[in-house]
Amino acid sequence: MDRLFIDVKSLAQIIKEFLRALGQKHTYNIFKNWYCLFGIMWGIPIPIVTIGIDFYSSRIPVTLSHIIKIMLANPLHFFFFLHPIFFGIVFGAMGTVRYNKQQKIEELDRVKSNFLSMVSHELRTPLTTIQGYISFLLTEKTGTINQKQRECLKISGESADLLNHLIEELLDLSKIECGGFKVHLARVDMLEVVHKAVASLQVYAAQQEVRLENNLPKDLPPVWADQERILQVMTNLLGNAIKFNRKGGVVDITASGPRKEKVAFSVSDTGMGIPEDKLDMIFDKFYQVDSSGKRKYGGCGLGLAISKSIIELHGGKVRAESKIGIGSKFHFELLNATLAPRP
Ligand SMILES: Nc1ncnc2c1ncn2[C@@H]1O[C@H](COP(=O)(O)OP(=O)(O)O)[C@@H](O)[C@H]1O
Ligand SMILES: [Mg+2]
Repeated sequence: MDRLFIDVKSLAQIIKEFLRALGQKHTYNIFKNWYCLFGIMWGIPIPIVTIGIDFYSSRIPVTLSHIIKIMLANPLHFFFFLHPIFFGIVFGAMGTVRYNKQQKIEELDRVKSNFLSMVSHELRTPLTTIQGYISFLLTEKTGTINQKQRECLKISGESADLLNHLIEELLDLSKIECGGFKVHLARVDMLEVVHKAVASLQVYAAQQEVRLENNLPKDLPPVWADQERILQVMTNLLGNAIKFNRKGGVVDITASGPRKEKVAFSVSDTGMGIPEDKLDMIFDKFYQVDSSGKRKYGGCGLGLAISKSIIELHGGKVRAESKIGIGSKFHFELLNATLAPRP
């Protein structure tokens, strides 16, 4: 059971923030600070009730002169009369404390986004140089290389590509966060997109001993999509379906037929599955079901968050269903370009 205790330090901090808010204009601005207005409204019944009690007990008619008389007879009424103002100030100050916190969070968020995009850009520049020189060495224009050296360069190249992918994801995230992430919708042939995604992951799937099955119907209609971005979504989903699969497992890509306004795509695997209560969280940025220090899967937990944003920019939704130990299935929908107008 949680023990109730007063944390003196945070109490002092709250009092400090409160006192600081009392000196800020925002506290008294009933047009911008709804807390202040709320406090005033909350305080209004107090003088009415206290004077009302006097009227009720003395049974005199309610007139202005009687009100003044009652108030002069008992100066405590002035104190009650000022209550709406007291409440307005106290609530207003609370509103200002909240407002200040919000401003601080927004500021920190902006700093974090700037930092993210700055770091990604700074990492990318030297990495491009590294990738360039690895490719250059492999062309043997600087002299012949032996088999062992070629092997080493190939591994370095693969690691550099992986790093590049992570940086791309961080850059995408910073774009999403500052609202600069856009899609350009056109008629897209998903057969071609899936074909490309499968081709780019074939080697990885073979390494993991996972079979990729493209079961899209041959009469799949074109959809409204941003070709590059939807390829990114497909690659992310397929990459996960391979990564979290078992040896000898299968990844299946399917879609609904041409007669519907929305074409539903799905990517299913025969892997470890995702716990029921984590099915929503996996779409949050940086979230990974296994985030322990000894996790054996690579990645930084951004693929699904980015994919979700991309699908949402297409006006669609992405969702997951899963059974532990049996596999997971990811669904998303795109508009049929032969039946629906461009969104
Ligand atoms: N097909 C899947 N099977 C099991 N777990 C998955 C699958 N796809 C995603 N997940 C879970 O969701 C998390 C987030 O996925 P993602 O955003 O692609 O990040 P990453 O792949 O970098 O870990 C993964 O770490 C994993 O725990
Ligand atoms: Mg992933």
